[in-house]
Parts: sequence; structure tokens; C-alpha cells
Amino acid sequence: MKIYQAKDYQEMSRKAANIIAAQIILKPNAVLGLATGSTPIGAYQQLVERFKQGDLDFSEIRSVNLDEYKGLPKDNDQSYAFFMRTNLFDHVNIKAENTNIPNGLETDIEAECSRYNSVIDQLGGVDLQLLGLGNNGHIGFNEPGDAFENGAHCVKLTENTIQANARFFATIDEVPKYAYSMGVGNIMRARGILLVASGSAKADALYKALFGPITPAVPASILQLHSNVTIVADEEALSLIKEHNCLPA
Ligand code: F6R
Repeated sequence: MKIYQAKDYQEMSRKAANIIAAQIILKPNAVLGLATGSTPIGAYQQLVERFKQGDLDFSEIRSVNLDEYKGLPKDNDQSYAFFMRTNLFDHVNIKAENTNIPNGLETDIEAECSRYNSVIDQLGGVDLQLLGLGNNGHIGFNEPGDAFENGAHCVKLTENTIQANARFFATIDEVPKYAYSMGVGNIMRARGILLVASGSAKADALYKALFGPITPAVPASILQLHSNVTIVADEEALSLIKEHNCLPA
């Protein structure tokens, strides 16, 4: 596992964008696993800038997103489909037909999960999976639990996640209670993983994920078993790890 330290959110975003850009340059038809949430926005902005400068070409890039709220149509401004269009897809030359996100409106859970697993398989798996980190250690919407989920599944969001997401909705009652998510197995089968974390609210989860026991109670802790994980985190997110002297000086 490589851990890159950044002084703040801006630097974290630039370093993360460098890694994603390198993947795109080295493999122009790469399959990118993408994440939503606040943390990757800065990295997406950097990628858009590099595209506008002529340094990146997304024309052959394929993408699969980690997750989507169940029950939200893709034009709802809180859907992850909308997020991806406004933060990245609409600003680069990725082809819409090469982007994949779970269908939040599909009510047949089994059909949607099996469709999404097949989408990932047919793409030949993910080359680089970008991940944010939940305050409770979740990755995608794999919430703390008793077991690691393998494939795509429908999740009942925890109270903690509903509270954390409430900032994006007018009232807490509007926050969806279920989501479709890639499983931990889907994530672990990616050939490379890039996890980004920023801010002191992530310090505890990041410390437990990287240096605590590997347990489904901290879903991100399974990343310790992956052979190609890169962490880019800012000083606040790394604060507890530093306090425990887990990083080389
Ligand atoms: C988003 C996702 C979530 C977020 C996590 C952190 O697609 O899968 O796991 O990465 O909740 O969210 P932020 O970055 O908003 O703190």
C-alpha cells in the first residue's frame, strides 16, 4: 500500500488527479471505477482542466460508478448520475454510452444487481477504482456489518450515512434510505485502487481502515489485503495515523 500525504484538499485533489490521468494516458481505453461524494470533486475538476488543456482524452475511456440511490431518477439533482454528469462527464469527451451507473429506478433488486455485475464483467473488470471513505469506514455503500458483500447489492443506509448525506437534501426525510452499490468483492477485484480522504472527520475511519483489524465492521479495512492500493489523504485525515506513528517520518 502506498500512502501519499497532501497538505490540504487542493493538494490531495491534484495528486489524485495525477494518478487518474496517468491511468488514462497509459491505457486510453481503461475502465475507471468512479465515486461520488464531496471528496473526489476537486480531482474531477483537475481532470476537466487537463482535458481542456488538451492533455487528456476520454474518448475510449469506459466507466462504472460505485453506487446510486435507489428511487432517484437520473435527472434528480441528488442522483449520482446527475452528479457524474455535472462534475465530470459533461465537461470531457467521454461517450455517454461508455458510462455505467446502477439504475436507481429499477425496483427488481435481483435483476439490477445481476445486470450491474455483468456490466463490470463484460468490461473486463476495473483498471482503477476511485474510492472515498465514509466517516464510519464504508466504501461505496458497503456499510459496517457482519460480513463483506461480494457483488452488487441493495443496501439499507445506516443512520450515520443518512445524517452525513442530509446536507445535500432540503430535509432529512428526503434522503433516500436505500442504495444500489458495488460489493466489496467487486471493489477488491479492481486491478488498482485509489482511495482519497480529506478532513478530520475521516481521521478515525482512515486509521482503522489502514492500521486496524480487517473486519466488516470497518469495510475499508479489507483494502489492506489488496496488492495495489494507493491512498492520497490530507494532513487532517492522516492526523490519527501520524499520532500513532504509523507513517515513516
Ligand atoms: C460515493 C460513495 C461513498 C463516498 C463516502 C464519502 O460514491 O461510494 O462511499 O465515497 O460516503 O463521501 P464524501 O466524499 O462526501 O465524504
